[in-house]
Amino acid sequence: MLDKIVYAISEAMKAGVSLVLLDSSRKKLAHTTSHGLPHAYLHKGLLDAEKSLGEMLQGKVVAIKDTKKDGRVQYPALAGEAGIAAMLGVPLTVENKIVGGIRVYMKSPRRFPKADIEFVTAMTRLIEIAAGNRTFLPAKTADRPDMTGIEPQRTLLQQVQKVVFAHPSEKEFARWLDFYNLEWIYEPRSFPLTWQDKKVTEMFTPDFYLPGLDLYVELTTMKQSLVTGKNRKLRRLKELYPDIKITLLYKKDYERLLGKYGLGPLSETRSRSIERVLFSAVEIQEKVHELAGQLSRDYAGCHPVMVGVLRGVFCFISDLVRAMTIPLDVDFMAISYFSDADNSAVKITRDIDFNVTGRHVIMVEDIVDTGMTLSYILKHLKMRDPASLSVCTLLDKRVRRIADITIEYTGFEVPDEFLVGYGLDYKEEYRNLPYIGILTPGKEV
Ligand code: IMP
Ligand code: MG
Repeated sequence: MLDKIVYAISEAMKAGVSLVLLDSSRKKLAHTTSHGLPHAYLHKGLLDAEKSLGEMLQGKVVAIKDTKKDGRVQYPALAGEAGIAAMLGVPLTVENKIVGGIRVYMKSPRRFPKADIEFVTAMTRLIEIAAGNRTFLPAKTADRPDMTGIEPQRTLLQQVQKVVFAHPSEKEFARWLDFYNLEWIYEPRSFPLTWQDKKVTEMFTPDFYLPGLDLYVELTTMKQSLVTGKNRKLRRLKELYPDIKITLLYKKDYERLLGKYGLGPLSETRSRSIERVLFSAVEIQEKVHELAGQLSRDYAGCHPVMVGVLRGVFCFISDLVRAMTIPLDVDFMAISYFSDADNSAVKITRDIDFNVTGRHVIMVEDIVDTGMTLSYILKHLKMRDPASLSVCTLLDKRVRRIADITIEYTGFEVPDEFLVGYGLDYKEEYRNLPYIGILTPGKEV
C-alpha cells in the first residue's frame, strides 16, 4: 500500500520519490520504498537525521528550490550526479510522533507551488493513516504476544522495510535478528573502493547494517574462491573507511550459528563424536573455584542474587555457588529459543521469583556466544533497578560476539567451535559429560 502511494506521487509529480524513515535511535534516516531514483543515490548510506533536511523532523515542510545553492542538502555532489536539482520534504507523523517523511526529488530547479505542497501533504496523510492503522501492518508485529512488556516498540522502518534478499541465508539471518528484536537495515550503503578518472569502478555493499550497534554485517555463504575476493574488498574498505565497524560471517560461522538451534545443514549430521576434550573436569573445577573466590571477595557483605539462565547453566551455577563463601540467593530464568516456527520473538518463558530492586545481581551464564540472549536478559533486568548488575560466564566465545555487552567475570575464552558437556547440549544430548568437549560433525560416534 505504501509502495503504491509513493508510486502515485512519483507519477503525478514526474519526480523521484522516497519514503524515508527514522531508525529507533532517531538519529538516522533510511530510504525504504522509492520510485524513480538511481541505485547509487539510494545506497549512499543512511542520512543524518539532523543534517538532512533536519527541519522536516521538526514537523516542517522543507522546499529546496535549487540543491546547488542550499546548505540543507547533505550530499550536494551526489544529488548533482543523480540529476537532482530540487527537493521537497514533507514530515510523516504516526501516533503523534514524527517517524520520517516523504521526499520528492525533481530533475530541474523548482519553486514548489502551493498546489504541489498540498498534494504531497495529502498523499503523506494517506501514508500516515495506513501506517497508523495496526491492522494494515504485517500480522507478525501486530499480533506478537508481548509477555514481558519490555519489547521495544518496533519502528515503522522495521515494519515496512521491503526487502528482496539476494540469498536465502540473508533472509534466515534477518529472521534471527528479528527474533532477538535487533533492528536491521538491508544494504543501506555502497562503499566506493576503486576509482578510475574519478568514476567509481568498484563498490562494496555490506548485506546488513545494525543501527543499534553501529555495525555492518556481511554474510559469506558462497564458494570459497569468491571469499578470497571478498576478503580483499573488506581489507580495502577498512583502509579507506577506518571508522566503519564491519564483521564478516563465513558460511561455517553461519551454519554453526543455526546449528546451535538444531537448524541448517549442521543439524542434519546424524552421527557425531567428541573431537577432543577442551577442558577436563579438574580444569573446570579449578576455574570455578577461582571465579567463586573472586566473587566472594567482590560481593562480601552484599548478599547477591545469582541468576542462571536455564538449562545449560545448571552444572556451572551449582558448582559455583557451592564454592562461594558468602550468603547469597539463587534464582533462574528461562527464555525461548530461535526456531523454525515463524513469527516468533525471543521471550522470557520463566522469570525470576525474587524482587531484585535495590539488590546486587550476578547473571550467571554457561557460555556467551553472539551475546544476543544475554543482552536481551540484561535489558530486562535493568528495568527492575537492581543496585548493581554484573555477568559471570564460564565460557566466552568472544570471536562470535554480535551484541555489545560487558562481561565482568570470565572463566575461559573459547575458540569458535561447537562445545558440549558440563551442562552444554547438542539437541539436549551431552549435558551430563563431566568435561567440556568439541563436537565434530559427520564422524562416527
Ligand atoms: P548467544 O545468544 O548467541 O550468546 O547464545 C547463548 C546460548 O547459546 C548459550 O546460553 C547456549 O545455550 C547456546 N550455545 C552457544 N554456543 C554453544 C555451544 O558451543 N554449545 C552449546 N550451546 C551453545
Ligand atoms: Mg544458555
